[in-house]
Amino acid sequence: MSQHEKKYHDAQYWDQRYINKPEQFDWYYTYADLIPQISFVLKPKQRFLCIGNGNSTFPIELYESSFEIKDIIATDISKTVIDYMLKQHKPREGLVFEYDDATNSVYDSNSFDVAFDKGCVDSLSTCGQDIIVQKFVDETHRVLKVGGYFLMVSFGLPYQRLHLFKQDKWDVGVRKLKETEYNEEDYFCYFCKKI
Ligand SMILES: C[S@@+](CC[C@H](N)C(=O)[O-])C[C@H]1O[C@@H](n2cnc3c(N)ncnc32)[C@H](O)[C@@H]1O
Repeated sequence: MSQHEKKYHDAQYWDQRYINKPEQFDWYYTYADLIPQISFVLKPKQRFLCIGNGNSTFPIELYESSFEIKDIIATDISKTVIDYMLKQHKPREGLVFEYDDATNSVYDSNSFDVAFDKGCVDSLSTCGQDIIVQKFVDETHRVLKVGGYFLMVSFGLPYQRLHLFKQDKWDVGVRKLKETEYNEEDYFCYFCKKI
């Protein structure tokens, strides 16, 4: 994905893409490559929200892992991909795939310990309208508990993303993520704690 391509912010684009290519695909990093770099934030019994999950198996691998995180909601704006995930993967108690628009979310305020995004903020940022990305970040802040973390994996450089996190609402740290053999781009994880 590049920030110069304008199609990725469009929900219809994603629906069509998932009709044409429903198979599992992970943007930027697989679960195995990413988890060692973010796992210091994870604790047993956390309530976990995977935003704009697409057909990534990240929530399933997390659920099946030894982190003891068994209350996970994975969302997407594409109903096509949500239907696919529900058909493709056996039901697991506490692991839910649901339609949600992350810029206007249905979830209760102060209800998640961790919110995770890999590529959704980047997709929305291609529309060039900061107001939409800001809505995403503000909604994520609303649904997180105080002290909860928003983990945002992004190609956005700190100068392109940090302004979204107001200093009186978030305590933010940024780490450049490790390269892998299949990805040579620079990616960052923004560790954003709700204050
Ligand atoms: C680049 S893909 C990343 C998918 C997955 N997170 C991964 O890492 O493989 C971006 C995803 O965000 C979803 N998306 C776009 N806008 C959204 C919105 N407003 N709310 C929720 N999901 C959205 C798209 O449908 C798509 O599945």
